Amino acid sequence: MIWRAGPWAGGGRSYIRAAAVLLVLGLGSVEPARAAGDESAIVRGEYIFRAAGCQACHTDSKNKGAPLAGGRALATPFGIFYSPNITPDPVHGIGAWSDDEFIAALRKGRAPDGRHYYPAFPYPSYTGMNARDMRDLKSYLFSRPAAATPNRAHDLKFPFGYRFTLWPWKLLFFTEGYRVEDPDQDARWNRGAYLVENLGHCGECHTPRNFLGAADRERRLSGNPAGPDGKKVPNITPHSDQGIGGWSETDLTYFLKSGFLPDGDFAGGAMTDVIEESTSYLNDEDRAAVASYLFSLPPIARLGSGSQAE
Ligand code: HEC
Ligand code: HEC
Repeated sequence: MIWRAGPWAGGGRSYIRAAAVLLVLGLGSVEPARAAGDESAIVRGEYIFRAAGCQACHTDSKNKGAPLAGGRALATPFGIFYSPNITPDPVHGIGAWSDDEFIAALRKGRAPDGRHYYPAFPYPSYTGMNARDMRDLKSYLFSRPAAATPNRAHDLKFPFGYRFTLWPWKLLFFTEGYRVEDPDQDARWNRGAYLVENLGHCGECHTPRNFLGAADRERRLSGNPAGPDGKKVPNITPHSDQGIGGWSETDLTYFLKSGFLPDGDFAGGAMTDVIEESTSYLNDEDRAAVASYLFSLPPIARLGSGSQAE
């Protein structure tokens, strides 16, 4: 190709070299086997992987399970879900999947064999990711070590064990499609919306759900009386006394980086994982985008506390 002889050639190579250095720094001393691929896609994919918080749910850290090999128990009102293996193992993981199959899982909540996924896998948020981020994410996942850990069946209450119940659920509550930027808002706000609503899936825990487990969009991010493991999750709209209305932007970005609350306390519960494995890896610009988006939302009172507005 002609451009190979042009000034791009050297630049391209040094970019790849720089990306490889970053990759080695980022991954530490363990260099996993991987198919020859685009190193910069892997580097970008690692950032997406962190922003999207895939690690915590898919690793059974309590029982010292291999990273991303699944088996983590997720207790919900519908029963216990066990996350599947998403390492590149071709038999027990997703190593045999094509890009399109991977994209369909995140975008449509559909398995390669056509099964519908339970929304315990937060694809109702991930559906808004753009296809390039999904492909980069797959490149990163496929660069990780494979683990031959078999999947464990979920332990669900009747009738939720039947996957066909998911078809009407999706029809009622699931809207497929990537996020379209709001032209009335600036780039920072749009990036924040993408980080909060799609990658960071903050609403999966911070938004209350109806009796069928669907997010109550009217009360977006206003707190959830029954979050992961049945615990309460706080209101993160700018409501002055129930939410984060009294926080400054710096309070919020510092919290997402360090886990320290404005009163000096440390984040607990499921938020510890979110900070340790996701928001602390974001760059400062992205944390600021999250803050600018959250503070732009309408303040909403939590469920059962009277009027909806402040
Ligand atoms: C809140 C927990 C949670 C998070 C976060 C999460 N997942 Fe999952 N994931 C699950 C559960 C539970 C399932 C099983 C769903 C089912 O059986 O219907 C699943 C299923 C999957 C599957 C299908 C695997 C198969 O064998 O069919 C893929 C692929 C996947 N997740 C990838 C990801 C990626 C990539 C991310 C980050 C962008 C992610 N997950 C984040 C809980 C989670
Ligand atoms: C897996 C569930 C989960 C997800 C996902 C999640 N959070 Fe949280 N979050 C919690 C829980 C639980 C707490 C309460 C922690 C505690 O008890 O200290 C919390 C606390 C917080 C607080 C402190 C609020 C206060 O008043 O103390 C903020 C701010 C926050 N989360 C922001 C976010 C943002 C932004 C995202 C998305 C990037 C997010 N959270 C994603 C579960 C989650």
